[in-house]
Amino acid sequence: MKKILPIYKEWSPSSWQTLPIKQAPEWPKDKLTDAIQKLKSFPPLVSIHEIETLKKKLKYVANNKAFILIAGDCAETFSDFNQSLIEKKLQIIFQMSLILGYGLEKPIIKVARLAGQFAKPRSSKMEVKGKIHLPSYMGDAVNGKKFDYKNRLPNPNRLIQAYYHSATTLNVLRSLTEKNIHDMIGKWNDEKIDTKRLLHNIKNVSKIEKVAHLLNTTNQQNNSNHIFSKDFFTAHEALLLDYEQSLTKSTEQGRWYDCSSHLVWLGYRTGQTDHAHVEFLSGIENPIGIKVGPMTNLNDLINIIINLNPHNQPGKILLMVRYGIENIKNDLANLMNKITTNKLNVLWVCDPMHGNTYKTKEGFKTRDFEDIKNELKCFFEILKSHTITPSGVHFELTPENVTECLGDSYNIKQSNIHEKYETACDPRLNNNQSLDIAFSINKLLKG
Ligand code: PEP
Ligand code: CO
Repeated sequence: MKKILPIYKEWSPSSWQTLPIKQAPEWPKDKLTDAIQKLKSFPPLVSIHEIETLKKKLKYVANNKAFILIAGDCAETFSDFNQSLIEKKLQIIFQMSLILGYGLEKPIIKVARLAGQFAKPRSSKMEVKGKIHLPSYMGDAVNGKKFDYKNRLPNPNRLIQAYYHSATTLNVLRSLTEKNIHDMIGKWNDEKIDTKRLLHNIKNVSKIEKVAHLLNTTNQQNNSNHIFSKDFFTAHEALLLDYEQSLTKSTEQGRWYDCSSHLVWLGYRTGQTDHAHVEFLSGIENPIGIKVGPMTNLNDLINIIINLNPHNQPGKILLMVRYGIENIKNDLANLMNKITTNKLNVLWVCDPMHGNTYKTKEGFKTRDFEDIKNELKCFFEILKSHTITPSGVHFELTPENVTECLGDSYNIKQSNIHEKYETACDPRLNNNQSLDIAFSINKLLKG
């Protein structure tokens, strides 16, 4: 019998289109073509040199000279779109980075799930309420959260809206990050922050304040080292490939960059070796996150990493590990052995959120604060036993005092979870929980 040889097809920003794809919305074709046409003519959201700057920073991380904090909403929404909220989102990330920088004595590379995190993969294609079956909400870039037929149909105009929302958010971020660090972190005794809770850390807070003052003075001399695209970047899941492709631009030398954000990640549900998402990501120069969890096949993962990073560049691939407290002990050790045996350069980032999600009796998706903390602890311990330094952490959080993640010490129980449950998708740490977790990381890593 004649052997069929695989045909090598060159990568292009559209080569993913010939492959099978998971999690693709059922767009109306004509309207999608129009939207893509428009998006292709739009300017990039972030520039190629900014993406290159992040790559350089991630090389420091690979050499254990810096640490990454990735944080933000599970899903951004078009309605949560105003100066004050963007400012507050930035503030909590900078406050955490200051705590971590102080504790770990390393620069903290801040990567916000912002200015583009508008699309969500879903475990069920359809949502059912009584007798009504409608497409699941896939993020504001696809459809609306309100449960009615018209609203739930994928609408390509939303891709254009996502672009404009991202552009304006980036504009605010660029102007805010020009402030000095002290102004940016704001007051620690803000009414939002439960100072009593932070009392055991109060000595640290005052020390950190001193550091912030010092930074402020040096920044004035050095013209600030906390500016956008120097140590502050954006990220989102590269889920909607039509959108990502439209914003992918090339240099004169023919190197391609996805200019929708600095870092993009391959979602847990779209990581099939021979499918569209891996193909698209294999041709771009951006650093790439890969979500790794209990369902990840390790041989497939190795193939994906080699495909996305054939030259094994340090800092190019971030493994965003999300095993959950139940699985991390066994699974992480296996993963680490596999990566080490294959001599692959990866950054080790702990996402202690996504493996710990469950539904309450009333149907609220939640996570226990203690599970999140314990997964971080296990992650650090297992890495230490392999003499590997953690590269960073990843959180879903909000500056608002939401009641989405349970914690007895925060008085957030299953019975009062409804009080301020506002997420568009997954449950987020609130302001106090976020600051607390930053202090916990310092304790876990520095004792
Ligand atoms: C997410 O980061 O919001 C997400 C969907 O994560 P995962 O792919 O790990 O479930
Ligand atoms: Co999420």
